[in-house]
Amino acid sequence: MDEIMSLCKRRGFIFPASEIYGGINGFWDYGPLGAQLKKNLKDAWWQDCVLTPPIGPDGDEVQIVPVDSCIIQNPKVWEASGHVAGFNDPMVDCRESKSRYRADHVQVLRPSGDGHLMFAYVEGDAETASKARKAVDKYLSKNADAGDYTPVELTSIAVADLARVVGPHAKDKGTLTEPRAFNLMFKTYVGALATEDDIAYLRPETAQGIFANYKNVVDTTRVKMPFGIAQVGKAFRNEVTPRNFTFRSREFEQMEIEFFCHAEEAQKWYTFWRDWRMAWWRSIGLGSDNLILREHDADELAHYAKEGAGTSDIEYRFPFTAPGYGELEGIADRSNFDLKQHAEHSGAKLEYFDTERGELAKNGQPKGERYLPNVIEPSAGADRGALAILCEAFTPDPERPSKVFMRFHPRMAPIKAAVFPLVNKDGMPEVAGTLARALKRHFGNVEFDAKQNIGKRYARMDEAGCPFCFTIDGDTLNDQTVTVRDRDTLDQQRINIDQVAGFLREKLGLEERD
Ligand code: GAP
Repeated sequence: MDEIMSLCKRRGFIFPASEIYGGINGFWDYGPLGAQLKKNLKDAWWQDCVLTPPIGPDGDEVQIVPVDSCIIQNPKVWEASGHVAGFNDPMVDCRESKSRYRADHVQVLRPSGDGHLMFAYVEGDAETASKARKAVDKYLSKNADAGDYTPVELTSIAVADLARVVGPHAKDKGTLTEPRAFNLMFKTYVGALATEDDIAYLRPETAQGIFANYKNVVDTTRVKMPFGIAQVGKAFRNEVTPRNFTFRSREFEQMEIEFFCHAEEAQKWYTFWRDWRMAWWRSIGLGSDNLILREHDADELAHYAKEGAGTSDIEYRFPFTAPGYGELEGIADRSNFDLKQHAEHSGAKLEYFDTERGELAKNGQPKGERYLPNVIEPSAGADRGALAILCEAFTPDPERPSKVFMRFHPRMAPIKAAVFPLVNKDGMPEVAGTLARALKRHFGNVEFDAKQNIGKRYARMDEAGCPFCFTIDGDTLNDQTVTVRDRDTLDQQRINIDQVAGFLREKLGLEERD
């Protein structure tokens, strides 16, 4: 992971936010390559979910319409959704080291013998885990009756026993506080008075902006059940322990669909979205066994999920989670929880009148049925998606001058092609410049590079993950051919300059989407 982070920094994919001021924990900025990579991911999602949605389980194209709601909403939205009361993580402080931890991320090595010291570490953090292990060995050398040490969650330790726990970064025992609930929503004030009555929240998920607009969408568009509303945008969570690069940040982007359907059809649509979303991630380059689908156990269900209803995660094996996996996207049957809550809290009538359901009238037509629809929610993270794409693409290759290349799926590659003049004279830069400009119009980000020798230019493009480089040389001026270099195979071939656009179109897989 250190090598991936270093490449991200060196090549301008991702920087710490406010780096010149020492950064700010849990916030990351995207540089030129990273911004384009993340945009490619969001554009692909928008294209495939909103503009050309898939064919659904009944053989018809799925209906999806977009919204773009505000980050700040009336605070009653978050009371109704349950976030004000319940969007909490258990937090624990260390009085000695002044560190703060998510209590459910702290593990404790507990002995089988009574009355002995216990040693805590942060889950997934090799440094504190090794410190705790060493402390156990040292302790056992003097207290053999402590018995066997095994890891348990801090939250399972009785409050009175915390006095015997040595914290992950502490020297003394008993410095960890009792875990307490910490609300993850960022607060702000609306207006100049800034009193308690003016408190508002930065949204912790884009989903509620969709539910709050559900009635407006039904009233103003021609959508009919079943249909989805999609939104891409920022979400904010004051995470207790942001970590693992962009994986757990305090500001991040979500790509969410709330798909409304009759309760009787919820299982069918849940299965459809779960499988289609998995196939989608595979289609944009996460095709290896690093990607898995995991159905939740019954005890993992969120507060809005119906018992027995489906909830699953699409997970990726990041270098920092390996051999385990981290969530990229959750697919949940939210039942009608959210619309019910908003109907109750706002007084708005959110029931849908379905003219195609209900008993048949004398004329043979259905009488119609009024109901609050169920919701199936595929909720993906754009930052975690971009991070998984970066990790999957990272390919060490000691034979290359760059020692590594980024094997991005062509659709995700931030630079689609590069055009080089072999040397900066004899009319080559002019021909290369004209070709680069022509390609840009069709393929977006195409780079013209005339600096340094050709080997260094190839190396730069390998690190940027550019799939194809075209070089204009002396022969081009005579026979109108250029050299194409393939990033993955390193093969070089000559093609006619007029065929470059067609070649790229085919290789980037753009034909079928035209
Ligand atoms: N509306 C449902 C919802 O927000 P979630 O599982 O809390 O569900 C959905 O979040 C996705 O948002 C996650 O799968 C993840 O990709 C992304 N996400 C959540 N918290 C994040 C964080 N702190 N940093 C980066 N991405 C995050």
